[in-house]
This record gives sequence, C-alpha cells and structure tokens, in this order.
Amino acid sequence: MLKKLSFLNPYWLWIILALPAFGMMSEALTSTDPKVFKFLLHPTGEFGARMLIISMLATPLALLLKGWRGPRWLKKNRRYFGVAAFGYALLHLLFYVIERASLDKILGEVTDLDIWTGWLAFVIFLPLAATSFDAAVRALGPRWKSVQRWVYAAAVLTLLHWASHDNFEGVGPALVHFGPLIALEAYRIWYWYLRPRNRAQAV
Ligand code: HEM
Repeated sequence: MLKKLSFLNPYWLWIILALPAFGMMSEALTSTDPKVFKFLLHPTGEFGARMLIISMLATPLALLLKGWRGPRWLKKNRRYFGVAAFGYALLHLLFYVIERASLDKILGEVTDLDIWTGWLAFVIFLPLAATSFDAAVRALGPRWKSVQRWVYAAAVLTLLHWASHDNFEGVGPALVHFGPLIALEAYRIWYWYLRPRNRAQAV
C-alpha cells in the first residue's frame, strides 16, 4: 500500500489538498450570486475541519493498526494536512469578513457561542501553523510537541463551533465528522491508561 502511496510525494499531496481551495476561489472570483461568500463559508469550514481531523487521526490509527502502512504514511505526512486545515480556516475567515462586510457586524456577534469558538480555534491555529516547518521543529526541540498539543483545544473548539451554528443544527454533521476521531482517542486513552496488563508487562 505504501508503494501505491509513494507517488504522493509532498508536491503531489500539496496539489491534491489544495484542489478544493482552487475551486472555491474560482467560484468566489467568477460567481455573480450576491450570496456566494455566505455559500462558500460552508465548504471552507468543512474542509478546514476535515483536514484537522485527518491530521489528528494519524496517531491513534497507527496505534490501532500497528504495522499497517497507511497509518504510517499518514503519520509521516500529517503536518501537510495540518497546514491545509489552517489554509482552509484562513479562506473561511476571509470569506466571512467579506460576507459580513462591516466591522460593527463582526464585533457585534463576536460574543456569540457559534462565533467566538471559531475565532478562538483560529487563534490557536496560528502558532501551530507557524511552527509546522522543519526549522521551527529544530529550533523548538522538545517544546515543539507541547506547542502542537494545543491542537486538541482547537479541535474541541471547532467541534463546538460547528455544532452550535444555526441554533445547534450543526450537531449532526459535526458529530458524524468528529465521531471517528472521538472513538479513536477513547481507544488511545483505554490503551495507555485503562487496559489490563499482565504482570510481566507491568514490571
Ligand atoms: C476565524 C474565526 C471564524 C469565524 C468568524 C467563523 C464563522 C463561521 C460562520 C458564520 C459559520 C456559519 C456559516 C453559515 O451557516 O452560513 C461557520 C461555519 C463553520 N465553520 Fe467557522 N468560523 C471561524 C473559524 C473556523 C475554524 C478555525 C474552523 C475549523 C477549521 C471552522 C469551521 C467551520 C465549520 C465546519 C462550519 C460549518 C460549515 C457548514 O455549514 O457545514 N470555522 N463559521
């Protein structure tokens, strides 16, 4: 399977991950529909969340499917999915600002649950994206992992942001997307902290 995936060198992977964004940007630039930016909030938000989820699936999947090549490939490349999550969130924010088109409107709704959760998730994304390059990994050393752990807070906020929009109409789709990640993280907690171990392993 890894052989099949090996054609996905970083450049191809970048192009594949960016393809939906090209479609959305061309729609934004060419559409004559006055509601186009409102409409584009959906796919940009969803793709941001999906990329975030995929990047986070790597570790628990590798634990569950030990030795499988797919999860190993994902673990090796998860940073690209993380950066793509940030890219889609940035596009989402850009379309949001264009659609609202007024600072008063934006500030007026900043305390709403379905909005501040998005802002806070985005603020957490900033240092994660800024430290996702090789130079930052080297410069931060062991502190890099502590910085990246903030991704869990960003994920919880994204889930809340998605679930709470339109008077909690987002609960269903948010849970469908986050469900597999929640289940795999629960498995990871069980594996490391709750799993019965025999005495030989415990010593
Ligand atoms: C930067 C601050 C953010 C603001 C102001 C914001 C704003 C919004 C708004 C207004 C909607 C509702 C769209 C509608 O129903 O018309 C929305 C939906 C959504 N946002 Fe955000 N958002 C932000 C950040 C994020 C981030 C960081 C993510 C995750 C990567 C995200 C993911 C989503 C998702 C998944 C939806 C639901 C899309 C759907 O309708 O299916 N948002 N956001």
